[in-house]
Amino acid sequence: MRINKYIAMSGVASRRKADELIENGNVKVNSITLKSPGYDVKEGDIVEVNGRIIEAEEKKVYLMLNKPVGYITSVKDEHMRPTVMDLVTDIEARVFPVGRLDFNTSGLLLLTNDGDFAYKVAHPKHSTGKTYRAKVQGIISREKLAKLRRGVDIGGFVTSPAQANIVKELPKHTVVEITIHEGRYRQVRKMFKAIGNPVEELERIAIGSVKLGRLAVGGYRKLTKEEIEALK
Ligand code: URA
Repeated sequence: MRINKYIAMSGVASRRKADELIENGNVKVNSITLKSPGYDVKEGDIVEVNGRIIEAEEKKVYLMLNKPVGYITSVKDEHMRPTVMDLVTDIEARVFPVGRLDFNTSGLLLLTNDGDFAYKVAHPKHSTGKTYRAKVQGIISREKLAKLRRGVDIGGFVTSPAQANIVKELPKHTVVEITIHEGRYRQVRKMFKAIGNPVEELERIAIGSVKLGRLAVGGYRKLTKEEIEALK
């Protein structure tokens, strides 16, 4: 098996990322740093990525977590803040988060040890829609809604077409469901700020056709076969 596929199957990185790791000298086979991404892994080979021995056969695990506000989407945090990994306690596999949610954003976060799956779901090229429920300040006019749908300049970047619908109008706030197909840093917050309605609360409620549903805040569960297939 090609070394990049072997690394992806171990869940450490996508195939593309694996090629980068090899290029950067982070991969060893039988204690020798690999020079070529064309290497074929043989029976009995010991493969190390960043000094850690990996194995391709680890069973694939796919989880959804209802991330609470106040957790970092990362495996580790330099500042010792709580990370989403603190919430996933009884899973053997070395799962990692797929994409990220801000510290102050709650909702649907996928975790897996399948590098190729993570790349596909998180990468904008594959355009898996991410749906958010945003409670924003003020009233959203028809014109503003049309702008969100058409594309908003968020500072040197115009967002691509999105779905956006008002789900609730409160005296001083509006609740909007918005589906975007790209994932710029703090994109949803920037989009609402750009139209003059800053976000007060943000929750991701779906990725593609997979919905958060009634999962308790801080809780997690395995994805069903159908959900995994739908995202693939
Ligand atoms: N957009 C944001 O602004 N924040 C998130 O966490 C996700 C999307």
